[in-house]
Amino acid sequence: MTNAGENFKSKITAYVLACWILAAFGGLMFGYDIGISGGVTGMDDFLIKFFPKVHERKLHAKENNYCKYDDQLLQLFTSSLYLAALVASFGASKACSKLGRKPTILMASAFFIAGAALSATAEHKWILILGRILFGIGVGFGNEAVPVFLTEIAPVQHRGAVNILFQLFVTIGILIANLVNYGTSTMHPNGWRASLGLAAVPAVILFVGSLVITETPASLVERGKDADGKAALKKIRGVDDVDAEYEQIKIASETARQVQKPFRNLMKKASMPPLIIAIVMQVFQQFTGINAVMFYAPVLFQTVGFKADASLLSAVITGLVNVSSTFVSIFTVDKLGRRKLLLQACVQMFISQMAIGGILLFHLGETGTLNKNLGIVVVVLVCTFVMSFAWSWGPLGWLVPSETFPLETRTAGFAFAVSSNMLFTFLIAQVFLSMLCHMRAYIFFFFSAWILVMGLFVVFLLPETKGVPIDLMVERVWKQHPVWKRFFSNDPRSYEMA
Ligand code: BGC
Repeated sequence: MTNAGENFKSKITAYVLACWILAAFGGLMFGYDIGISGGVTGMDDFLIKFFPKVHERKLHAKENNYCKYDDQLLQLFTSSLYLAALVASFGASKACSKLGRKPTILMASAFFIAGAALSATAEHKWILILGRILFGIGVGFGNEAVPVFLTEIAPVQHRGAVNILFQLFVTIGILIANLVNYGTSTMHPNGWRASLGLAAVPAVILFVGSLVITETPASLVERGKDADGKAALKKIRGVDDVDAEYEQIKIASETARQVQKPFRNLMKKASMPPLIIAIVMQVFQQFTGINAVMFYAPVLFQTVGFKADASLLSAVITGLVNVSSTFVSIFTVDKLGRRKLLLQACVQMFISQMAIGGILLFHLGETGTLNKNLGIVVVVLVCTFVMSFAWSWGPLGWLVPSETFPLETRTAGFAFAVSSNMLFTFLIAQVFLSMLCHMRAYIFFFFSAWILVMGLFVVFLLPETKGVPIDLMVERVWKQHPVWKRFFSNDPRSYEMA
């Protein structure tokens, strides 16, 4: 297939397809981790070995639908990974710009392999925690480098779809983790070791993959390797005539090369629009409440009255819905655009959350269970919620921040997206069960209110980035937007030069 959008020619070759898929394994590492932790911390063997007091408390917990699993220490174990990733993303941004996207992806996989090895063989709590930290650094490096890598090597007319491969692999990772936990939960006493150790599988694939994939042309040219950059561009476009696109990368890299302090430049007025959008997209992504479902689906389903096994099965169903709905986004994001998907999803997520809240409020007290039919309705509503997240805020939370920064602040700016994601994932992981305990059904109204706010944000503040070449975003998107153009009025792009 040859495309000539923006006069840039390209063919999708087997090599470029391999690059997309191999890099996307970075998403699988992240997703596996999101999915695995909740199950592992629920395993008795694991609790007895590392958190005996928590296990004691679990045995004698007072039966209350909303407060069964509220335990700060255990939640801290789960969420410590996200704190490590938060800090690591800034180091990853440096690695990404100074060494390149490819070596940063390689480092991510190495950290992850080390984390899996330590966690799977841990005999002491501190080794286990060290393993968590290594996993976290791996996630920080992978989530920084992979979305930027995919966005930079994608042809403009397929950029959304290619970037969303990252999110697709996140969802596959979550689903695989749920299935693995299902299998290992009956392997006594070392099931948890298998669950944590198997994280090495995607990491090894990513490690090998990172040796095979190309460096991105933008990163090569930015680091002064012009000839290599042009050769890489020819290779990923599958055609010889890449002059028009190469010229644009060259112009973008001239500015980038002169900017010595990307983080300081990110604080300039002209950098505010993409920076605000990057942070807000990620914060809102988490305030949809998605990770309340992803981390705690089995707990949630037990809360509404399913037995342990049935609730795990329901979690697998939501996992499948999550994977399959991501394809909707892959096939529509470059046609419908980003804004339409986000807005449609706000409506669907709002209705789903309000309905779940309403059912729980009127039909589930502190004790007792929902009747079977209402339980099923709740599962269906969770599915309609997950479905709309999966074709909107899930993938676009990563896509939009990776495509809106100019080259000179791209990796530094994207680090803020990654760290905001990690910070708010941490907060949700840490406080959700306590919030559920205190707010009960009202927690779903809390998330619904945020969904309203994010809908308004899209209407008024989010520009459409579909089909705009990545190096023309400032001119074609930010300087044209009714609100954001003010940031450029008398300060076209006054970056601090070396
Ligand atoms: C989010 C994760 C979430 C996942 C669900 C990702 O985009 O960053 O926090 O668990 O989507 O599929």
